[in-house]
Amino acid sequence: MALHIFCGFFLTTTFVFMQTLADTSSCTDCFVNSRATYYPHSEQNGTANGACGFGSFGALVNGGDVSAASSLYRNGVGCGACYQVRCTESEYCSDNGVIVVITDQGSSDNTDFILSEHAFDRMAQTTDAASYLLALGVLDIQYRRVACSYPHENITFKIDESSSNPNYLAFVIWYQQGIRDITAVQLCEVYTLSTN
Ligand SMILES: *[C@@H]1O[C@H](CO)[C@@H](O)[C@H](O)[C@H]1NC(C)=O
Ligand SMILES: *[C@@H]1O[C@H](CO)[C@@H](O)[C@H](O)[C@H]1NC(C)=O
Repeated sequence: MALHIFCGFFLTTTFVFMQTLADTSSCTDCFVNSRATYYPHSEQNGTANGACGFGSFGALVNGGDVSAASSLYRNGVGCGACYQVRCTESEYCSDNGVIVVITDQGSSDNTDFILSEHAFDRMAQTTDAASYLLALGVLDIQYRRVACSYPHENITFKIDESSSNPNYLAFVIWYQQGIRDITAVQLCEVYTLSTN
């Protein structure tokens, strides 16, 4: 019965969120120089076990163009943020690079990004160039924060399965649009179901 009441409570909950401007210092459009690599032995997509807790969504969202971040993970606030990442070898790399969504935390050899292999490939001009870049493993890159865009999706609160435990609620936020961080979520009860 306690479990039943608990679920009723949360199914009738309203979510309110707060967004803050990304910490982009003074220059919102400037690229920052850094390094990137890719998940070893990945199957093109990212990982379903990412630190952001997205599960398989974290591997497949954005067509599999996802990444782990090191300092940009920012204790989880960086989860769901989008970055444009482009490599700098003009002979092999495309001008626009790729836009990735952060779904995991990690660093390797002074990298800011560990891209899915799918995203890593997309920084190349051609498939031959992609093979060359993959063989290098770690690349000099430039990145900048960009707005996330999911034209056919609404923001979604995915309640974690563990929330079936009494007095516990966990969820992740899918399809966070725009360039702002979600730093807090407030819940308020809008009505309580009868306990009988
Ligand atoms: C990778 O993602 C694509 C598109 O999202 C999907 O069709 C494919 O099945 C995924 N591959 C794996 C190994 O999960
Ligand atoms: C997004 O929300 C609108 C308004 O509630 C709704 O009409 C639309 O079907 C939703 N889209 C998806 C993909 O759920």
